[in-house]
Amino acid sequence: MLGIQSRREFLASTAVGIAAAAARDIPHPMRPRPLPPPPPPPSRWAAKPVVVSSANGLRAVQRAFDLLMQGADSLDAVIEGVKIQELDPNDDSVGYGGLPNADGVVQLDASCMHGPTKRAGAVGALEGIKTPSEVAKLVLKYTNHIFLVGEGAKRFALQYGFKEEDLLTEHAREVWLRWRANLNPDDDYLDVPEGEHMSVRPTGTINCDAVTPQGDISSVTTTSGLAFKIPGRVGDSPIIGAGEYTDNEIGAAGSTGRGESNIKVCGGFLTVEHMRRGMKPTDACLETLKRVAKLTEPRLLDERGRPKFDLKFYAVNKRGEFGAASFVPGRFAVHDGTAAKLMDTAYLYERAASR
Ligand code: GLY
Repeated sequence: MLGIQSRREFLASTAVGIAAAAARDIPHPMRPRPLPPPPPPPSRWAAKPVVVSSANGLRAVQRAFDLLMQGADSLDAVIEGVKIQELDPNDDSVGYGGLPNADGVVQLDASCMHGPTKRAGAVGALEGIKTPSEVAKLVLKYTNHIFLVGEGAKRFALQYGFKEEDLLTEHAREVWLRWRANLNPDDDYLDVPEGEHMSVRPTGTINCDAVTPQGDISSVTTTSGLAFKIPGRVGDSPIIGAGEYTDNEIGAAGSTGRGESNIKVCGGFLTVEHMRRGMKPTDACLETLKRVAKLTEPRLLDERGRPKFDLKFYAVNKRGEFGAASFVPGRFAVHDGTAAKLMDTAYLYERAASR
């Protein structure tokens, strides 16, 4: 299996790597390794390989699916997929270029689970590292822990060769300055003119889940979280069982949208449990959304009792069936062996609730 090593194997490979470093680059645990032999022919597949993602993951599902077809491990495939968004300065909801917290500091969250080895890793409020999904994978691979946060998570990443960088792009800085200026009419910042006011606080994220031809499953979710959040806030994305969850016997599920509402229902876990009881992925996602709606406090419901926020779930099962659902019509990305494409989510309500 590619990518998941025992501590002893890692130490041995590190020793070799250090010797080799004199001749070439510094060894880096995330450097792609040679791929194992390609998967068996389709007639011998245990599952229909598939990758699903939030709608911003069209490139992610293409990349992850290509890697699956080359024999890559499911976790390596989804991490390589979401890294495209993490490294893209134009996606202001994930990784580098993500919108900052209320202090103007970008704090990133990510988690992942690897079905075959039953391992999990996560980082929260990570600053200065562009690809928190990779750091979460390092926690999974090389520690006895699951969740590292803040300064400790950063130091951990630096120890493994990650570079500390300024994650705040000019675009993100400008959006943050405008938000701050309009926060309070009585403060010392002059308001930005009406037309430019941001009325919505974005909660972008990318979740990606994959099934290999052998029926092995992994999931990852990574985000810069709620824009302008209180410093230190973490949402659902880095919480195993909320932002994503994998059980290699059943399937995987993950989410994007208002993290606080997902945390209360442990939506990743709950969706997998719905599938364990026999539901198809789409129905499982819808069922979880119904639970979210039931647990929503009145201030977040419209006059007809519908949640006023966005939340989506994505799921795959052991056979390679997949689905996604949202409160109102939405889109998600999938590669099911034909092509990377956007598809419509199933949904609970025809139209968006009034805010
Ligand atoms: N779902 C992303 C967040 O709430 O941070």
